[in-house]
Amino acid sequence: MKDTIRWTIDIPLSAQNKKDINKAARLIQQGATVAFPTETVYGLGADATNENAVANIFQAKGRPQDNPLIAHVATKEQLMQLVQDVPDYVGTLIDTFSPGPITYVLPSNGVCAVNVTAGLSTIGVRIPDHPVAYQLLLQADRPIAAPSANLSGKPSPTLAQHVWNDLAGRMDGLLDGGPTGVGVESTVVDCTGTLPMILRPGGVTKEQLEQVIGEVKQDPALQHSKEQPRSPGMKYKHYSPEVPLWLIHGSAEEIQQLIIQEQEKGKRIGVLASEQTAAKLNAPIIYSLGSNMSEIAKALYHQLRSFSSEAFDLIICEAFCEEGLGKAVMNRLRKAASEYMDLNK
Ligand code: TXA
Ligand code: MG
Repeated sequence: MKDTIRWTIDIPLSAQNKKDINKAARLIQQGATVAFPTETVYGLGADATNENAVANIFQAKGRPQDNPLIAHVATKEQLMQLVQDVPDYVGTLIDTFSPGPITYVLPSNGVCAVNVTAGLSTIGVRIPDHPVAYQLLLQADRPIAAPSANLSGKPSPTLAQHVWNDLAGRMDGLLDGGPTGVGVESTVVDCTGTLPMILRPGGVTKEQLEQVIGEVKQDPALQHSKEQPRSPGMKYKHYSPEVPLWLIHGSAEEIQQLIIQEQEKGKRIGVLASEQTAAKLNAPIIYSLGSNMSEIAKALYHQLRSFSSEAFDLIICEAFCEEGLGKAVMNRLRKAASEYMDLNK
């Protein structure tokens, strides 16, 4: 067990906060693992150029060895120092969306340790948009490899407490910068081809990308579950709550009928729905995720973590429209779900 240091950081950063982030940066330089907030979810960071430090991330999370990590940097210049053969459209994407919730997959030039890329020839790089992450990257003065700071298989952490619950004693430090913003992870875009291809939907939508650079492809595996995904992480079952989750496409009336039917079997049911649908439902425990997709994305992982198997037998969750940020939300919900039902069919 490690003695995990926890720092509370306010935004805007005070002088003391900067000192604490500086300590965390020194730890990173010495090969330690430190969790920190980004605009999407918390990440578990280590020096991306130090193979042993990176190995500690895999160990702390129980992460499969073949799942590569994203290297985080503070600036476009630092990003360019990790990659080669960069197509022109990447410059436009970086100037438009970074810092922000987008990760570029590009040919690696070998500056980062081999286990960051899990042996692939490409590397995922991103510039997070968060003052704590920015300060940490500046002070550490090196790329920081960071997957989401959850135990492998669990929902990603949007609060420092989620990180603490999963990884206290397994990491060296935690910078608690309060709740993250977007709530789902960055969009992972393969930029090795003539056209960019979305490998994981996330905080920047396909529609937003297309407005800036025209046609953007999407990994066929995102729509056809029989295809092999091009991003190693997408093949794993993720985000699993403690309790089985049924993802239901249907009207409020149809969802209500299902709730009654399962309650009659003696199941203790929790419901997740939009504010609008929640208002029409009747069940002992209903959590409203919010009234629009940004609110729903922000609340999703926290709510998925809130169901304990002691109190619930089944989560019934409304399926959302797969447009804009809804694509990322539904991608995560499908992975979290044990059943998907379309009651309109
Ligand atoms: O928002 C985020 O992206 C967060 C914060 C902490 O930055 N990070 C995150 O990391 O979600 P992680 O490790 O949980 O997910 C990274 C995803 C995985 O699906 C991984 O397989 C994929 O990115 N990935 C990383 N490098 C890749 C590469 N070279 N080629 C294809 N996929 C890659
Ligand atoms: Mg993750």
